[in-house]
Amino acid sequence: MKKIIMDCDPGHDDALAMMLALASPEIDLLAVTSSAGNQTPEKTLNNAMRLLTLMHHQEIPVAGGNRTPLMQPLETAGNVHGKSGLDGADLPDPDFAVQDMTAIELIAKTLRESDDPVTLVVTGPMTNIALFLRVYPELKGKIDRIVFMGGAMGLGNWTPSVEFNIYVDPEAAKIVLNAGIPLTMAPLNVTHKAQILKPEIAAIGEINNPVANAFQGLLNFFEVYHENPKWGFKGAPLHDPCTIAWLLHPEMFESELMNVDVETQGELVRGETVCDYYELTGKPKNTDVLLDIDRPAFIQLIMDSLKTFK
Ligand code: RIB
Ligand code: CA
Repeated sequence: MKKIIMDCDPGHDDALAMMLALASPEIDLLAVTSSAGNQTPEKTLNNAMRLLTLMHHQEIPVAGGNRTPLMQPLETAGNVHGKSGLDGADLPDPDFAVQDMTAIELIAKTLRESDDPVTLVVTGPMTNIALFLRVYPELKGKIDRIVFMGGAMGLGNWTPSVEFNIYVDPEAAKIVLNAGIPLTMAPLNVTHKAQILKPEIAAIGEINNPVANAFQGLLNFFEVYHENPKWGFKGAPLHDPCTIAWLLHPEMFESELMNVDVETQGELVRGETVCDYYELTGKPKNTDVLLDIDRPAFIQLIMDSLKTFK
């Protein structure tokens, strides 16, 4: 059983990652914290609460995190995820209370109370995790690994060489990647291969339970932004679920261990994840970088997980 905390900015693909975690008997989702990224902090927090209500997991504590990145104003992605951050489905209003503490306080409480080390799964900008490491350095030893969706080895999706999550808060990402905690990174290189195709979204509609029906609507909405021919996609790239899929089935992925660091100064490349694939820097290989995926197996996992809901 893997104990995890999810720090996320739901967000359609964050929602799918949460669904995979909740559906699996191998994962114990101890807490959910929300970050500002895909939408404003109020909306991502509300979305996290709505998702746990939809999936009948109101027992999981939720706390809201950062209002802005560490060093720059917040930039959101309403053009991708819609006004609510989860457009495309009628999700229930939250029917349970948010925790009366901040995200980093909930992470600290959860780590203190866990007998075993905990994996942090980060699927949005890394502001909360950076703040947590700065405020509670004594709890670093309770973190088994950080598995995050973010970055790219090459082409970005928000500026030419920068991926959105890292773009939003490069300083936070730099702090986390240099914290000395074992890291698994799901960059665009692998998540752009983790596409769901229209017939597969249609097949989700055949599952016929309220959760699958909601996710079909969410995916139909999420697919529209990615239809632009400039991307060269056949479907919608499911970025964040790659984190949970790796935790459950690492054999589904190809990966390489390498040094990854973050550019925070460059005028044109601020937020770029600099991946030392050819070992040119001699810097420690701090990150297991996922580079390929067994897409059919990944889609099968999503289908099978959706079928577990009543
Ligand atoms: O670039 C993709 C990432 O940015 C995903 O985590 C998506 O949810 C957005 O947060
Ligand atoms: Ca996300």
